[in-house]
Amino acid sequence: MTIQTLGVIGAGTMGNGIAQTAAVSGLKVVLIDVTEQALAKGMAAVGSSLERLVAKGKLDAAVRDAALARIETSTDYQRLAAVDLVVEAATENLELKTRILKQIETIVSPSTIVASNTSSISITALAATLAEPARFIGMHFFNPVPLMPLVEIIRGLQTSDATAATVAELVTRFEKSPINVRNSPGFVVNRILVPMINEAFFLLAEGVATAEEIDAGMRLGANHPIGPLALADLVGLDVCLAVMEVFVEDFGDPKYRPCPLLREYVAAGRLGRKTGRGVYEYA
Ligand code: 3HC
Repeated sequence: MTIQTLGVIGAGTMGNGIAQTAAVSGLKVVLIDVTEQALAKGMAAVGSSLERLVAKGKLDAAVRDAALARIETSTDYQRLAAVDLVVEAATENLELKTRILKQIETIVSPSTIVASNTSSISITALAATLAEPARFIGMHFFNPVPLMPLVEIIRGLQTSDATAATVAELVTRFEKSPINVRNSPGFVVNRILVPMINEAFFLLAEGVATAEEIDAGMRLGANHPIGPLALADLVGLDVCLAVMEVFVEDFGDPKYRPCPLLREYVAAGRLGRKTGRGVYEYA
């Protein structure tokens, strides 16, 4: 099976990035969210990202226009009836994702693949909530989706070989590189990346160095493109905290204890770039 049409649930940072990537690759996209306002915000982000790529000479204006024309937005899940693959990219919440996945399954055709872009929730557990778990798989993209070349393909215990092969082929059409990962908390990248971010918050809380110095340390001393605290602001502090909480819960190992300062910032609504303030302030 070759995927030609894609449904995306959630027009937030990850969802709109996935929609953009698919549309640029020639797929028809149905982007779903609960409000017209959320959809408009998502499409504005797609527009400005494509604009940046055109301005830098990395994308033809004609490709941009064709990509924008391929994205349909809707608040109605029934629009997913004819898509080949649905990627769920809603908020990182088990109960919400379960509800959405069950709803998708009542609408799509029996051959449609259902994927989740979850950053930490068990693919096996999500699959188990579906009537046909063999068609379910994890497709984990990285922020900013249009630029980041990796997609983790996570097989739950129930995922079929055909589902995994179809998704791997699609990822290469997106001009991204897949890595195959067995279901495990945080998969590969977040298992390494998010504890590093959490440790940077401990350093900040202990006053070992300023935020700027911690970030400069990892940029200049480990060649990271941005420091861990700036990365937390990009990813969202709420997402980082949710991932650490899954690690503590699933591994039962106190080494994953979320830093209290990370909790404090999240409680204050300092979630990073998306709220204008996280560790740093944004205009
Ligand atoms: N769309 C299009 N272009 C974009 C863009 C976007 N959304 N964001 C940035 N760009 C472009 C800029 O226009 C610029 O283009 P140029 O090089 O031609 O001038 C280029 O990307 C670099 O941007 P900036 O100068 O603004 O900033 P940086 O040099 O810091 O690069 C970055 C931005 C590529 C995001 C870089 O900082 C980076 O690689 N950061 C690390 C990202 C990362 O680790 N992501 C993974 C997060 S973990 C995750 O997502 C998983 C989840 O489950 C938690």
